[in-house]
Amino acid sequence: MTKLLIQLRKATKSLHDTIEKTTPLTKIMQTPLHKDSYIQALNYLYPPIFQLESSLDKFMPEFNYQARHPLLALDLKNLGTHPPKIKNLSHLQLSCEIQKYGHFYVLVGSQLGGHIIANHINQHANNLSTLFFDSSDKQVWKQLINTINQATFNQEQEAQIIKAATTAFELFLPSKDI
Ligand code: HEM
Repeated sequence: MTKLLIQLRKATKSLHDTIEKTTPLTKIMQTPLHKDSYIQALNYLYPPIFQLESSLDKFMPEFNYQARHPLLALDLKNLGTHPPKIKNLSHLQLSCEIQKYGHFYVLVGSQLGGHIIANHINQHANNLSTLFFDSSDKQVWKQLINTINQATFNQEQEAQIIKAATTAFELFLPSKDI
């Protein structure tokens, strides 16, 4: 693992722990799994995933990444509701292209936990629409790791990537009003 990946993991570990332990995702990892908790978790995930995918849209053609917020919207529709309105997109805009690696690290990394969640939901959810979690895919993560391993970033660029990853993680904090 490169120094950058180790630094990324270290810099965002406490944010990851907070998200895992204090957000609506916590409840869907419990049993029994209630439909309302599941809807709450999808609603919680929609704004940050939408924002990250919107900010990266034009920057990541080299990766085989399929936007997943439409699947979240579809799950919510299938559950009889709809995704929350996004109030503010401006604060996530990338000021330089290098930051995309930090955003992408978070977006794609979130699918690693997504696998675990998908397994849990498929065991404990009856008749819930699980298109979003079922689409968790490790392939793009491997692609990103290879790209980062092969790239040469200077110290300033590494700092920008780590800052961007932290900003992206913060979008998932419960207090964020998006
Ligand atoms: C209950 C919810 C979650 C659980 C249980 C969970 C669990 C995990 C686990 C087990 C891994 C390591 C997987 C592996 O190495 O193969 C992981 C990695 C990761 N997760 Fe989560 N996760 C959750 C939510 C999230 C969310 C919402 C995000 C995005 C903000 C996120 C971002 C990441 C990132 C970036 C990594 C890669 C860390 C690295 O190896 O550098 N996770 N997660």
